[in-house]
Amino acid sequence: MSKKLAIDGGIPVRSNQSWSNWPLVNQQEWETEIEPKMRAVYLSASEGLPGTKSQEFSHSYANYTGTKYATFLPHGTDAISAAVSAVLDLDGFGDGGEIITTNYTFVATASAVLDRRCSVAFVDIDSDNFTIDPAALESAVTDRTRAILVVHLGGHPADMFTINQIAQKHGLKVIEDCAQAHGAESNGKKVGSLSDAGAFSFQSSKNLTSGEGGMVTTNDEMTHHLVHAFMNVGREPSGARWEYPRLGWNYRPSEYLAVLLMERLKKLEAQTDIRNANANYLSAELKQIEGIIPPYNSHWVTKHGYHLYMMRYQSEAFGGKSRAEFMRALEAEGIPVSSGYGQPLSQESGMQRVFDQYPHLIRVLPCPNVEQVCSESIWLFQNILLGSQKDMDQIIEAIIKIQGAWS
Ligand SMILES: Cc1ncc(COP(=O)(O)O)c(C=O)c1O
Repeated sequence: MSKKLAIDGGIPVRSNQSWSNWPLVNQQEWETEIEPKMRAVYLSASEGLPGTKSQEFSHSYANYTGTKYATFLPHGTDAISAAVSAVLDLDGFGDGGEIITTNYTFVATASAVLDRRCSVAFVDIDSDNFTIDPAALESAVTDRTRAILVVHLGGHPADMFTINQIAQKHGLKVIEDCAQAHGAESNGKKVGSLSDAGAFSFQSSKNLTSGEGGMVTTNDEMTHHLVHAFMNVGREPSGARWEYPRLGWNYRPSEYLAVLLMERLKKLEAQTDIRNANANYLSAELKQIEGIIPPYNSHWVTKHGYHLYMMRYQSEAFGGKSRAEFMRALEAEGIPVSSGYGQPLSQESGMQRVFDQYPHLIRVLPCPNVEQVCSESIWLFQNILLGSQKDMDQIIEAIIKIQGAWS
């Protein structure tokens, strides 16, 4: 006999139990690891320039990603703008050409490109891993195309081998939006090291965070210099204070954030491993439930970032109940979920508004896979994956309970 669902007044699978906090904070860590370093910055009276802590953190992050250079910035959005500007050597005043990107992503992927006076072509995703579809992107290349901006969505690395081959064939640059993919690896190499430049975010939801923050990684010295100029009013990394070989802006970050991130970076790899272990456990169980498609890991993924655990819901296996009803039932059982991006980014009204006024800035290719994923996806956020095996068991139990009641 099926159990009464919590949404119908039954006992929830999970009640009065909290999920893992994010970010993970505790008094002891503050007192022993973070506070002494914050205090040292405060007492040094050096909270901004010359940016010693920011440079230290940038070096550590370059090491972590296996790149030669990294530049710490205030936001992930700035990191994409800086990467676009540096990789294409744009000053931001003239037409920067077109950049092809995915239509299933956060708004900043595209707005940062438009901000640099480049136009955007939105293309479809691979229906298995939700990252940009290499075939769709290749067929979108025109004479105006200058770069491909991939997004390692939810922590799943895009198909960089194929994408880099396409880029080479057409003489294009490649940039990675790694905002959701700290620590992810493709064929044993960290994201951010797989293209001309990688852009990371340390915004509060991200797997490495200081509330706000961003980073550009690269192996190319000139790109590094141009990112630095973008960040630090046009200066050279070791140039004089009042010399500006380029025009740049002030995107210098706070030293306090660098200190916080230095400490948290030490824990990132272990946390990524916990998320992977929990996600693999969940997937092994969920793939046995008809109507739930767990995330797919492509063969090149040697480590998933698991910023998001993205599954798909098929209502036929749940008595025809809609995804919204399923999500309400799950929430009532104590499992927090999100439906994720509601529509292809090109259809968001902010983007439509730009298109109406400046149609030459946005090109939209057919995106049936994006449409489908927008209507079927269910996300668990990364903090859920930091929980215990019992937490995972309760997610599975809630889904089985709901299916039992509805079918
Ligand atoms: C895919 C993607 N790109 C870019 C960003 C922008 O990062 P930020 O919020 O730090 O500006 C985010 C995160 O918010 C993101 O998820």
